[in-house]
Amino acid sequence: MKLSFAVVALLPHLAASSTVLETNPNGCIDPSEYDDGTDFFPQKFVPDETTDYLSVSYHNTYKIVTNLYSDKSYLLYQCGTEPPTDEVSSGKYHVVLPVPHVGGLAITETAQIPPLEILARRSEILAYIGDPKLVSSPCLQYLMNDDDDADNSSASVETIYYPDDPYNQTLIDVGTFEFLERNPNAIVLEGLFGNVDGDRHVSDTQTQERTAVATFDWLGMYAALFNLEGMANDIIAETKSRYECAARNAASLTSDVAEDEKPRILWAEYFDGIGWSIADCPTWDAAYYCEYAHQCGASIVSRPEGMGFNESYGGEEVYWYLTDDEFLQLGKDAETWIYPSPTFSDVYDQKSEILDQFVSVEKGQVYDTQGEGPFGWHEQRLAEYDVVALDLCSIVGTVNPTNVHNRRWFRNYFTEPIGSPGTCDVDSIDMPYVPAKGMCTPIAMTTTTTTGGGVGSGGTSAEAEGVAQGTSAAGNLAMMSVQAVAVAWIASALLA
Ligand SMILES: *[C@@H]1O[C@H](CO)[C@@H](O)[C@H](O)[C@H]1NC(C)=O
Ligand SMILES: *[C@@H]1O[C@H](CO)[C@@H](O)[C@H](O)[C@H]1NC(C)=O
Ligand SMILES: *[C@@H]1O[C@H](CO)[C@@H](O)[C@H](O)[C@H]1NC(C)=O
Repeated sequence: MKLSFAVVALLPHLAASSTVLETNPNGCIDPSEYDDGTDFFPQKFVPDETTDYLSVSYHNTYKIVTNLYSDKSYLLYQCGTEPPTDEVSSGKYHVVLPVPHVGGLAITETAQIPPLEILARRSEILAYIGDPKLVSSPCLQYLMNDDDDADNSSASVETIYYPDDPYNQTLIDVGTFEFLERNPNAIVLEGLFGNVDGDRHVSDTQTQERTAVATFDWLGMYAALFNLEGMANDIIAETKSRYECAARNAASLTSDVAEDEKPRILWAEYFDGIGWSIADCPTWDAAYYCEYAHQCGASIVSRPEGMGFNESYGGEEVYWYLTDDEFLQLGKDAETWIYPSPTFSDVYDQKSEILDQFVSVEKGQVYDTQGEGPFGWHEQRLAEYDVVALDLCSIVGTVNPTNVHNRRWFRNYFTEPIGSPGTCDVDSIDMPYVPAKGMCTPIAMTTTTTTGGGVGSGGTSAEAEGVAQGTSAAGNLAMMSVQAVAVAWIASALLA
């Protein structure tokens, strides 16, 4: 009795004023229920220190997202509040949008799929503008194909694609314009090559970031659109810490190894009719593959300045290639070859005489990027950079020996089948997609007799639960690795 009396006495006070929010609203609000000066976004996204092109600032009722690569700012105001008049009329903002955004969106690059799926906003995707066969996500594929007749407008996710003239920008622009006419509250997410000036277009240039952490950090921009910063912050931090664990282990295993004795990785693919494209790593952060090799304590075969020939295809970017002879000379001694594309078998058929002279080929150490199917590398992989690091470190032998890591992304061309992204569990289509997690135990920890703490806390059981909610067969694989790691860890704890 006493207790409910106390609750009743408290309620009028709460409703009157000074309600302090602890989480960002998940819908529109009535501002009259709050004090002036209420901070509606107590959960804020702070970009990583290596994130070069994204900033978000918070101003009680609105937030400003800036893409520093495209030089565009977007004003997102809490739905229910008045958008700030002076700011809006300043003309500084390319798009002004109430949040949490509910008007749907069109996506134009597969890299935009994982962030939306992770935040359980898959159903906000109304259209995919591009070649539908490049989509790896089983559930998005399902939504794009869930009508039997040819009329794509009745599918839950519309496809805007012109197979007879796929690169005709005029056609794409008209299709996009018509999409926005049908969906006036939607936005269009653009990538690097998209029309960032388009009406209601928001630009995501995650792929231009320097580091793996920064690339994934763009989850924060998606979170800002949906007031889901709290959720994103946790996922961003946990993924980064798993990645750093892998890097620290590799560093401790290779600290005594001289630079020229480190495992050598050849990272190269062939472009038919042009030449060999090979890693270019003047610094560790020059490209994502340079970073992975660096984090795994390996050295990567890098094109020496001046070797090869270049093409720019009429754009600003310069692409370098090697001839067969140059490639043979540079790459034949590396013991591991990563071929970051699905075309190795075509090349091997054409050029086996040359390629059989490579140590990596002779030892059967050639890996392509089809461990999760032909297209996941440009999609889900971006959300699993910690797993990719463990994949590479396990190939070159720099993972914690007591951790059991099941390689996911790099597939041994000679001994393993092409993988698959799995199938969609239609019942969980609105659940958050939980990417696989790299299971990494710090090396120092397994050699001490710590019990309970470290490995287990916030780790194994929560992860197993998260993975079980996943929407693909990948989840099952990761689940198995959770169990395997748990067993390995228990074994190592017992032995210690
Ligand atoms: C999809 O629908 C749009 C508009 O309804 C149409 O213009 C387009 O040609 C269709 N695409 C395919 C692949 O059927
Ligand atoms: C793009 O398509 C439109 C409509 O079919 C056509 O008129 C135009 O010539 C095409 N543009 C190019 C560059 O092929
Ligand atoms: C590309 O190659 C040409 C020679 O074929 C050379 O003159 C030019 O400097 C190269 N471009 C760059 C960016 O190095």
